[in-house]
Amino acid sequence: MHLIETDAFPFEFLSQLAERESWRKEVHRPIYHVHKWWAKRLGSVFRGILLGTTLPEGGDLPAEFYKSQNLSNAVVFDPFMGSGTTIGEAHKLGFTAIGRDINPVAVASVRTALGPMDQRRLVAAFDELCQGVGGNIRALYRSKDTKGRPCNVLYYFWAMQVPCPACHLSVDLFSSWVIARNAYPSRKPEVQILCPSCADIFPGLYGQEAATCRSCKTRFDPRRGPAQGAKATCQHCSRSFTILDAVASTGTRPAFRLYGKLVLTRSGTKEYLPATAEDLAAYQQCSARLQEDTSHGLLLPTLALEHGHNTRQAMSYGFTTWRDFFNDRQLLALGWLQTAIDRLADAPSRDALLTLFSGVLEFNNMFASYKGEGTGAVRHMFSHHILKPERMPIEANVWGTPKSSGSFSNLFRSRLLRAIEYRLAPTEVNGKTGKGRVCASPFSGQVEATWPTNGRFSERAIYLSCGDSSHTGLPPRSADLVVTDPPFFDNVHYSELADFFHAWQQLTPSAFPDRSTSTRSLLEVQDSDADHFAAKLRSVFVECHRLLKDDGLLVFTYHHSRDEGWKALAEAVLRAGFTVVNSQPVKAEMSVATPKSQAKEPIQLDIILVCRKQNAADGDRPSVTKAMESARAKLRRLQSAGFTLSRNDRKIVLFGQLLTTLHIPADTENIALYVDSGIEITEPSQPAARNPSQLLMFD
Ligand SMILES: C[S@@+](CC[C@H](N)C(=O)[O-])C[C@H]1O[C@@H](n2cnc3c(N)ncnc32)[C@H](O)[C@@H]1O
Ligand SMILES: [Zn+2]
Ligand SMILES: [Zn+2]
Repeated sequence: MHLIETDAFPFEFLSQLAERESWRKEVHRPIYHVHKWWAKRLGSVFRGILLGTTLPEGGDLPAEFYKSQNLSNAVVFDPFMGSGTTIGEAHKLGFTAIGRDINPVAVASVRTALGPMDQRRLVAAFDELCQGVGGNIRALYRSKDTKGRPCNVLYYFWAMQVPCPACHLSVDLFSSWVIARNAYPSRKPEVQILCPSCADIFPGLYGQEAATCRSCKTRFDPRRGPAQGAKATCQHCSRSFTILDAVASTGTRPAFRLYGKLVLTRSGTKEYLPATAEDLAAYQQCSARLQEDTSHGLLLPTLALEHGHNTRQAMSYGFTTWRDFFNDRQLLALGWLQTAIDRLADAPSRDALLTLFSGVLEFNNMFASYKGEGTGAVRHMFSHHILKPERMPIEANVWGTPKSSGSFSNLFRSRLLRAIEYRLAPTEVNGKTGKGRVCASPFSGQVEATWPTNGRFSERAIYLSCGDSSHTGLPPRSADLVVTDPPFFDNVHYSELADFFHAWQQLTPSAFPDRSTSTRSLLEVQDSDADHFAAKLRSVFVECHRLLKDDGLLVFTYHHSRDEGWKALAEAVLRAGFTVVNSQPVKAEMSVATPKSQAKEPIQLDIILVCRKQNAADGDRPSVTKAMESARAKLRRLQSAGFTLSRNDRKIVLFGQLLTTLHIPADTENIALYVDSGIEITEPSQPAARNPSQLLMFD
């Protein structure tokens, strides 16, 4: 028996570390953050899982966690690799790691993060860009400050426009005349207000109900713009109308109007200013240049959006191609940049910079908005799991200045350089001080694209492949472990969103060979129907059963608030020939996809499910009473470690533990019943008043 199969597994220790890591996960483990992916898991949890599968029953996980390990004789497979958390953590521990994902965007990002990147050559390639195309891009973001001196533009501010159905004049869809505020308004209450009459921009105070324009003296309520929810009121004829109807009448996506900018003066101060005639002319020049350059072969996205749960809203606003997500200056700057990177001579640097470029797109499109100063200023387009059109978008300087956020040059440092530094000296976070401690030898920087069909994997090698994990081509009984994080049963189809990146990536096949028109696949484990979802998940688990050694473990994380999500999971696991031998709760990140109805009882736990092949698990399953006792004991342990648990948290701990009672597929009918039919989830006693960090056993 391994530690993770037993009740001695110290999930409190892991939960406290996970909490610490989740505050700044891109700083603690930058290798998983070189590009956007959804539902990224915490590296510390996966390091803990992997160690728990190798340590014996009495093993000391907290002590081993901070030691350099060399578990070189074991092979780990992750069929749902995502951003590569299992693979990177397995590599650090010395395992041979095999990762597979159906989505080419995910696989390409992991290949960059773990593949060949040489710090010196990468910096040289970046410098070459900086001196070449960088200069041309920076020239697109020049304007004048209040004193008429030339300066850089940090951000341009735009308003979405639709024609008024009554008078046909354009209506700006401002929801508020407050166009900028600090991320922490209670500490820094100064805001910037746009005058609806003369278009001046002047300072005001957060929450103020009336403002008087400093230029034209118009008095108005700055909190209420012409667009309120689904409706807008025409500034010209005062008629109220439904925004979507007005959009539909045009047959295209809405237009945008440039109204303001934030400039960085030569002395380094920031000024909010109205857009001038010169700014408008500069933008028009970009449009003309774009036309000229595309006629001379500048490549830009051509792919169309496809209908789906996550694309529906954007499509109803008339965004039908991925190109529609950008304005002309963004297309010009991004098109130039992508072309220049693609021409770099050093292939590994080129591929890494193309991955970085793809990640930059998320912040540089007309769905991005302004969070305000005091934090990363640009709110990227995926802050919702649907593509939500933005009525007051922000256009950032694509190359960037030292004071920019979301730009190519800033993300080069915060994403790529940080990832390389981590690879050279991989650290673990100390739960007390939050500081990193080096606990592994450097990454090899080598990634194999095909695996040996004879099953003779090289020690500590990384194999990555793109495709459906219900058919892997891996030899039977070739893996010692399957460790993964399967998709949860919900409505988030990663591929619908990943197509935004794919539309650009497929323009540079040197780095991204997948030329298909979409990353969607019928084989993607996701479905609005629970039975279909279960069937697809099961086929992947069947394949895992085939390629796992007879005494191997399948370990995965899961969380779901609804019973049908758990039933689907139980179906998939049991019918694939596995038995759940134990479950371990662990702190998860708050799910952004939590439905509103669940918001009061949010789930903050993931359940780690530990499975063995049915004939390898000992025959007798624990009784329901025993499983309930075990679940309660785990809840009590979490509470004494300082975690406050919602009803849904308690429910999923129970679900996880009840799965261990099942051994034939027909039983799955019962598990929801047990929970539903009122096996009371007793309220464990109040958490002991202790500081969670006191429980951590660090020096
Ligand atoms: C929850 S995510 C994994 C996230 C990952 N643990 C991380 O930390 O980034 C699930 C992944 O499964 C992938 N996937 C879905 N169906 C698949 C299939 N049939 N074969 C392989 N991968 C699949 C999705 O593309 C997605 O990246
Ligand atoms: Zn009107
Ligand atoms: Zn005014």
